[in-house]
Amino acid sequence: MDRYRIEGGRPLKGIVTVRGSKNGILPILAGVMLTKGETILHHCPSIADVHFTLEMLEQLGCRIQKQNRSIIINTNDCKNIDINSKSVQKMRSSILFMGALLGRFKEVNIGYPGGCEIGLRPIDLHLKAFREMGVSIEEEKGILCCDASKCIGQKINLDFPSVGATENCILLATISKGHTTIYNAACEPEIVELQTFLNLCGANIKGAGTECISIEGVQELHGAEYTVSPDRIEAGTFLCGAAITKGEIELKNVCADNMRQVLLRLGEAGCIIKEQKDSIYLKAPQKIKPVSRIHTGPYPDFPTDMQPQFMSVLTLASGTSIISETVFESRFKHISELCRMGADITVEGQTAIIKGVKSLKGAYVCGRDLRCGAALILAGLAAEGETVVENACYVKRGYEQIEKVFTSLGANIVLE
Ligand code: EPZ
Repeated sequence: MDRYRIEGGRPLKGIVTVRGSKNGILPILAGVMLTKGETILHHCPSIADVHFTLEMLEQLGCRIQKQNRSIIINTNDCKNIDINSKSVQKMRSSILFMGALLGRFKEVNIGYPGGCEIGLRPIDLHLKAFREMGVSIEEEKGILCCDASKCIGQKINLDFPSVGATENCILLATISKGHTTIYNAACEPEIVELQTFLNLCGANIKGAGTECISIEGVQELHGAEYTVSPDRIEAGTFLCGAAITKGEIELKNVCADNMRQVLLRLGEAGCIIKEQKDSIYLKAPQKIKPVSRIHTGPYPDFPTDMQPQFMSVLTLASGTSIISETVFESRFKHISELCRMGADITVEGQTAIIKGVKSLKGAYVCGRDLRCGAALILAGLAAEGETVVENACYVKRGYEQIEKVFTSLGANIVLE
């Protein structure tokens, strides 16, 4: 298993360009299965989850060409097959192929998805919505055998504004008969991105970014050329890296409006932040201030995907901070590892109380999921001495060569 080895204590300084969004491109790649012809995607991140997804598209008969950060996908020879469970189990977003393949081929046999172990992550909301739209779903030996031949647009109410369930309903409804309205939909920027891409391909979707999304089913979709938006979680991670190391960085190719809660909280922590049209400058304080109470939640609340990284920053604050994780029931795996580095964090249910300490000490720690690994790297950048973060494979799922980015900003970090 790969690992990161970090010699801490060096402030991050410099300029970095943020890559395309992992959680933006993954639903779009599933959406490409709805189109006939050629799609060109620009500004694609070279990360493990994208590579896994392209493998699945090739299994389905897509012809794929890569040119630097652009991917050309031709779907004319696509055929419906049972995507092998190994591929599906590699990540959470593979469940989006359920909606896309049902939309295109009206039937699919698919296994349960995998993904970071940050909770049970059931797919009951996806299945409930699909059944309400007339999809018949039978489970046989862990495989979901689905038939959408009688699928018709419906009014769907999601019990929780699930990002994945919202995306899956959009993918199914886009080329199904009738009109679908999704109530209590997720409002994340990645939903808006999916709507933008599918409408470029000829879909008729309105309302993404609000709790009510309406989709008029169309006969078929054509390919399109599209540039993936910046990754707001990668951007927030880099800003936290500057904050925890008393550094000063400028991010290029970012959308500050999609990061409002993170920027506000970094400001509360004492960082000086200046926003331009598509760049953000951050200068860290000499001493991080505690932040009273953060609770993660569906957008536009503080993003759960930034919770571990922000907690690393608060371990060095001049007082006590409180973070409640309300989205995933098991997203505190970084806490035990941060405490091995000298952090003072106690947990009461879904709430962490972070008492700031003077400094962190380098240690041998284990990244147990994508954002946990990122949080431990940030802590290692600030710690005295050497830190080794195991399980680099998780971090590589969502960050493209993070060690090279931090090295370019002055850090001493290697992937080995
Ligand atoms: C997406 O996951 C993201 N992944 C996650 O990012 C992100 O943390 C999450 O949305 C919330 O913003 C991708 O986009 C690939 P959910 P998703 O469905 O769709 C429960 C990262 O680090 N739920 O909104 O799986 C679920 O268990 C990853 O980049 C059900 O109970 O998130 C969770 O508690 C991690 N039943 C909550 O809803 C369902 O059918 C939110 O899940 C679906 C979800």
